[in-house]
Amino acid sequence: MSKPFVAGNWKMNTDSRGGIELAERIACGSLEIVSKKVTVAVCPPFVYLGAVANALRASSVAVGAQNMYFESKGAFTGEISASMLKDIGCTYVLCGHSERRHVIGETDELINKKVVAAVSGGLLPILCVGELLAEREASQTEKVITRQMKNGLAGLSAEKVLAVTVAYEPVWAIGTGRTATQQQAQQVHDFIRRLVAEMYDDQTAAEIRILYGGSVKPGNAADLMSQQDIDGLLVGGASLNADDFLAIIQAAV
Ligand code: PGA
Repeated sequence: MSKPFVAGNWKMNTDSRGGIELAERIACGSLEIVSKKVTVAVCPPFVYLGAVANALRASSVAVGAQNMYFESKGAFTGEISASMLKDIGCTYVLCGHSERRHVIGETDELINKKVVAAVSGGLLPILCVGELLAEREASQTEKVITRQMKNGLAGLSAEKVLAVTVAYEPVWAIGTGRTATQQQAQQVHDFIRRLVAEMYDDQTAAEIRILYGGSVKPGNAADLMSQQDIDGLLVGGASLNADDFLAIIQAAV
């Protein structure tokens, strides 16, 4: 299995000074473990990406964006391309986060264009998938995940798909304090891995990284990470507190 991967999604939070301070504290606190045993990334808001990437330049903590546009340049007011993100030192980009799907209204088709453009632009996309509470209660979880995975990864070869990290984030667990139990998470992670085997092959399924996200905290990180198919964690709220995020990184090792 690959190194565990812990990513912090700051969402629309922090300011320029607070963001740099947070990044520096994470870099400093994770000095010993990052790079050797765990891959760590932070995803600040667009406007602070350059400053945070600069602050982290000498560290092993990578920087990711929370979104991007699929076109490379041109008349797309307000949008940011993969090459711009690369240019300021980004390695990762979140694609299809549930807030973008359900608040902003992004479709599977749009998300797929972003994933494909990220890979061809040399970024490592983190494709977020996950069901709504009503979908879980209607036993639609596997159907929703299958749709999001097949549409989200359309057009990517087995070789290219390994640039993608999948993040399973049940929408009912995001920002709610209601984490999926380790068994619930493992069950869906196992389903996703089997789906990747069906879409690609066993080797690809074994190698692809699948993160869990949704109310991850220092107190539940180790239990989640103990599950066979959970390769890392995507952390929202708790990644805004350096001590909590560092404790989660430690628990993931
Ligand atoms: P949360 O968010 O940890 O605050 O639940 C996770 C996410 O949205 O990636």
